[in-house]
Amino acid sequence: MRKNLTINDLQMIVGPMEGVMTPALIMAANRLHLTKCWMTPFLRYSQELCKDSLVRKFVAPFIAENVKVIFQIMGNDPKLLSQAVSQIQKLQLADGINLNFGCPSKRVMSGNCGGGALRDIDLMCRIISTIRNDHPDVNLSAKIRLGYEKIEEMEQIIPALVETKMLDFLVVHCRSVREKYDPIEGHSERFKRVKALSDDLPLILNGDIDSRRKGLQYINEVNAQGFMSARPWLANPFMFVRDEATDDDKELLYSTVLEIAEKELNFPYSIGKKIELSNLIFGSNNPYFDELKKLHKQSL
Ligand SMILES: Cc1cc2nc3c(=O)[nH]c(=O)nc-3n(C[C@H](O)[C@H](O)[C@H](O)COP(=O)(O)O)c2cc1C
Repeated sequence: MRKNLTINDLQMIVGPMEGVMTPALIMAANRLHLTKCWMTPFLRYSQELCKDSLVRKFVAPFIAENVKVIFQIMGNDPKLLSQAVSQIQKLQLADGINLNFGCPSKRVMSGNCGGGALRDIDLMCRIISTIRNDHPDVNLSAKIRLGYEKIEEMEQIIPALVETKMLDFLVVHCRSVREKYDPIEGHSERFKRVKALSDDLPLILNGDIDSRRKGLQYINEVNAQGFMSARPWLANPFMFVRDEATDDDKELLYSTVLEIAEKELNFPYSIGKKIELSNLIFGSNNPYFDELKKLHKQSL
């Protein structure tokens, strides 16, 4: 494992969620010590580098004492992505770089970005090798799905990535792009096949892992190095700290997010955003929902 990150850091990671991970949410989670390692949502590089100030602002909420930050980038131009890594390194903003090869949004998949890259193994390998050749010491990982059309594509994709010998670890969301976020079965079997294909490349498992117990069980069963939880973590935000979530935990995160937004960022959540946040943390049947909806109607 190169630089700054150790296998220990990777045991439990909050999954990136673009659009959902607001600065206030991230800062609240840091204040409550809910994770030791973040992976940022993707920053997309299409034509040119982002300004230093934008990159700094993007990553700032994640940075906290004793918390590692893996900076995720997305794009289809190997040289541009490598320049982005130089910039992130120069600004000393992250402990590692992750390549997004999994996002299923149509908006990003044009030009084989995000999940679209899974259709072009050669492109993924060129991105990895360009960055690695320019940055021999950077901790470089990829986050993939199991395939574009179908999960069997992992049989080609994973060995090709492993053969580069240029990645420090691999995060695998156990669905294909076509499976979007649909319910699936056989997570364990999928993870085991991924492991069989991954050789000795450290592996982080992702997909529907809704408790620490389940995550650690998969790690043991599959012989992986860690697990990542995104949507379920929001509904069980103390998941990495203890086994059972309580309603008090959720209340604490919810109120801390709103407090930070209002008092520290001077950017209070709108009623619509409060509804969205309460939904994410408590589910739609939540103590705030009816009240917020009433307020929302009155404000229209
Ligand atoms: C709203 C939303 C935004 C997401 N944004 C990203 C992203 O920026 N980068 C990424 O690699 N994955 C992203 N993901 C995928 C998650 O990180 C994760 O792989 C997926 O939700 C499956 O894990 P889960 O079952 O623990 O949620 C996103 C998922 C959601 C629901």
